[in-house]
Amino acid sequence: MNNELPENQFRTSLLEENDGPGRNPTDNRTMGDIIAARFSRRGFLRGSLAVSAIAATVSPLALITADNARAASGSAFNFDEVEAGVDETHHVAAGYDADILLRWGDALFADAPEFNPTAQTAAAQAKQFGYNNDYVGFIPIDGSSEHGLLVVNHEYTNPHLMFPGLVTIEEKDGKKAIKQAPLSKEQVDVEMAAHGGTIVEIKKVDGKWQVVKDGKLNRRITSNTEMQLTGPAAGNDRLKTNADATGTKVFGTVNNCAGGVTPWGTYIMAEENIHGYFSGELPADHKETANYKRMGIPEGAYEWAAHYDRFDLAKEPNEANRFGWIVEVDVNDPALLPKKRTAMGRFKHEGAESIVNKDGRVVFYLGDDERFDYVYKFVTAGTFNAADRAANMDLLDDGTLYVAKFSEDGSVEWLPVVFGQGPLTAENGFSNQADVLIETRRAADLLGATKMDRPEDVQPNGVNGKVYVMLTNNTKRKAEQIDAANPRAENAFGHIIEIAEDGGDFAATKGKWEVLLKCGDPSVADVGATFSTSTTANGWFGMPDNCAVDSAGRLWVATDGQGPKATGRTDGLWAVDTEGEARATSKLFFRVPVGAEMCGPLFTPDDQTGFVAVQHPADGGDDWKPFGRPSYYEDLSTRWPDFKPDMPVRPSVVVITKQGGGKIAV
Ligand code: FEO
Ligand code: CA
Ligand code: CA
Ligand code: CA
Repeated sequence: MNNELPENQFRTSLLEENDGPGRNPTDNRTMGDIIAARFSRRGFLRGSLAVSAIAATVSPLALITADNARAASGSAFNFDEVEAGVDETHHVAAGYDADILLRWGDALFADAPEFNPTAQTAAAQAKQFGYNNDYVGFIPIDGSSEHGLLVVNHEYTNPHLMFPGLVTIEEKDGKKAIKQAPLSKEQVDVEMAAHGGTIVEIKKVDGKWQVVKDGKLNRRITSNTEMQLTGPAAGNDRLKTNADATGTKVFGTVNNCAGGVTPWGTYIMAEENIHGYFSGELPADHKETANYKRMGIPEGAYEWAAHYDRFDLAKEPNEANRFGWIVEVDVNDPALLPKKRTAMGRFKHEGAESIVNKDGRVVFYLGDDERFDYVYKFVTAGTFNAADRAANMDLLDDGTLYVAKFSEDGSVEWLPVVFGQGPLTAENGFSNQADVLIETRRAADLLGATKMDRPEDVQPNGVNGKVYVMLTNNTKRKAEQIDAANPRAENAFGHIIEIAEDGGDFAATKGKWEVLLKCGDPSVADVGATFSTSTTANGWFGMPDNCAVDSAGRLWVATDGQGPKATGRTDGLWAVDTEGEARATSKLFFRVPVGAEMCGPLFTPDDQTGFVAVQHPADGGDDWKPFGRPSYYEDLSTRWPDFKPDMPVRPSVVVITKQGGGKIAV
């Protein structure tokens, strides 16, 4: 662990700068740098003044007013857009309430201690809402849209924002920089308990959502919760450790980014940037060397290996093979062990959103979030049984994993990632399906899958039959590496691809695709963004990440990585039209406080409630002029959501409802 490198920047770079095998070692100025310079210049200008001040250099698109956007013909969304910008708090469209539902540290059980940031313990944290909420799912109780289980992933931890007394500020190259002390074992234990997921009963009472503290299904899952490995790779020698001779019993889950809720009402947690938790070196010539290199293991961003041998590759060389899977949790009994479903492949899993196909099989769409990595789908062998929940509980252990190959002619082919087919044979070092799954990335490399610009959430839409692929960015793609599905070099702002599977069959091995949207500021010609001309100066965005489709089939996109430098605005939730004349029109509905990333989003089945997750607020402040210095526990760029001097900033889930009731954005 290099403590000269600020921990937060280290982890931010881990998350935002996922380098794939195409890592470019040069320092060439990227499109992102050019845009950053532009926004830091205009950062002090506000609103229409900013627009007119730079109007000489921009296209008339920037001058479109909010009124024009409201008039966008055929838009499926009706609300008054939020003004894009950066400040200490969250903002939602006028006429809506955005209330804090769950904060880091909130008690989840009747006997849970109240949050005390100066006396944190792992035991307390394990009974409280965890850190850095990401995926949010809602599992209705008795079909209600006003009573259900909220399931929330806790992706990672930011010690410099969580723990007092950890940070000193030093001058480095004339700039103030954070220097973080090593964590104590107690702090590492708190981190491990702050990871994982939360299952908590919530209900709407007199129009306001409440947490049911004594809900009998309330549960915390942490990096120490016992889990089972199931499916074709379970029990394989490569999954066996000193602590587990069976290769089937693993403790905990880490870096659970997006996720899903299955049609049978289980909770899916995707394991994404697992490489950061491992340190140490594999023994020389160890058989996992190439496998781990392809996954970037070890990355050593966390200090867990200093206290727990299983995170040290020298001591437990196989432990890292037990992470990078899709985890399924049966929420109906807190005593049941979560299952890591190996049939769905091992990579940096972003999420797993699913749809019941017309033949009853269930199709899960999966992104591998790294530059130049792939889009996958998993088709169950069995069919969904709506009448018998128990009959679905092992559907995820048997099925076919496919990886996407996008062609110039607008077709997409789904290539089976199956032992014995094509190059996935002994000649290439695979002796069975377990090997193929443990090294899913290498198998997909051999199959010739299309290297994408960081696949994030992939969302099937049951209303229009399409599938939406969020590609967040890839500034390392060089001009000679562009292809039809990744059409921009130095892609700083990402894009969204829309897939239509052949015959409306989500299990089909072929489909058609097109780019729905190239993101970024449409007023800068060089960016090449393709928002509709009805999109306002507030309505465009960059870096699509999590997304949701509501019951009406409308697409909502959350972003990761905007800010004063990158786009002159915080992350937020944008409503994106996909149909008719309004296609590719986008409007800002909600925005996060400074330093935060937008996660969630999710709508209840009646479309009357939206949940969003505000992740790592106050992680950053240097580039925001009103603050202009490093942000850490004692000196935060925002103390959202409590705004109390003795309370740290707290990642939180926010619940959005229309004042007076009714469906959102109708
Ligand atoms: Fe955790 Fe791919 O973002
Ligand atoms: Ca994500
Ligand atoms: Ca989603
Ligand atoms: Ca994210």
